[in-house]
Amino acid sequence: MSFEARQKWSILASAWKDTGPPAAPSLQDVSNYIGHISKRKATVLLLGCTSSLRNRLLGDSCKVVSVDITRRMLEATKPLVTESDADIVVQGDWLHLPLNNNEVDAVVGDKILGNVMPEEWAELFAEVKRVSRPTAPFLTRASPHGEDLLQPPAIRPFSELVKRWAIFYKEGMDIDSACSGLWEDCMDMSTVSITPFVGTQQLKRVIPITKIECLSSAGKEQHAISLVRLFIRKFWHSREARWSAYTVKGILTAASIHFDYVGQYTATDYPEGDRQPVFHFVSRT
Ligand SMILES: C[S@@+](CC[C@H](N)C(=O)[O-])C[C@H]1O[C@@H](n2cnc3c(N)ncnc32)[C@H](O)[C@@H]1O
Repeated sequence: MSFEARQKWSILASAWKDTGPPAAPSLQDVSNYIGHISKRKATVLLLGCTSSLRNRLLGDSCKVVSVDITRRMLEATKPLVTESDADIVVQGDWLHLPLNNNEVDAVVGDKILGNVMPEEWAELFAEVKRVSRPTAPFLTRASPHGEDLLQPPAIRPFSELVKRWAIFYKEGMDIDSACSGLWEDCMDMSTVSITPFVGTQQLKRVIPITKIECLSSAGKEQHAISLVRLFIRKFWHSREARWSAYTVKGILTAASIHFDYVGQYTATDYPEGDRQPVFHFVSRT
């Protein structure tokens, strides 16, 4: 699995730094994370290397330990983060965290559950619990498919999804965010269940077979053409990559072995922010 994650993110790394919400956290999402870490000067474990989270935590005088398996992602985000001795970056696997027991005051990680296949979630939550001090907050934004049973959305043609995000782009959304929204819609559309509560997503299940077909789905509208061109550049090569899909019940059940659930916080500064809350847990004593 970790090898699979590294391969996937090595492909995505060069384009990812410009990716806006929903695939990366918005300003409000970042506040929803940081607002629930009470201790200043805390040692915070970041799962991944999200630059916006690192910058905000460093600004709050926290020590940030980012653990990410993909060297290219660590390199790509470095120039986006304020230089600081408190920004510690480690290449490592979340399933075998290179940290001691009870070492950190808080854990954050944006969309980490989509990156770990559901059969490995138990290991992930156990590792996060192991390195967390008792009652440490653990915050992660997720994009569940509803509350209970995993219900893959009805398949809609790629051209329809393109049209939707091209309108947002035309109305003023930046193209990186529109492209990220298009990508997430395609991912949603590709959901296949493994159990009633969890499943997988894979872009190649829903996008056209060739790049030419993909581009022709944009029609003649200029915003749509630009959007699809960017989509191909950013995401085409990761068509085979697998991601996990889940419901709220899937998340809460997996977390409940080691964590108490506190609540969910939604952002309103991008379309569909309300479907991608930051989940707040605390490590059980
Ligand atoms: C945190 S996630 C999602 C990206 C996020 N939404 C963002 O832009 O902030 C992506 C990162 O997780 C890393 N990753 C995925 N699986 C991992 C694993 N098992 N161990 C460590 N890092 C992993 C990838 O290398 C990638 O850099």
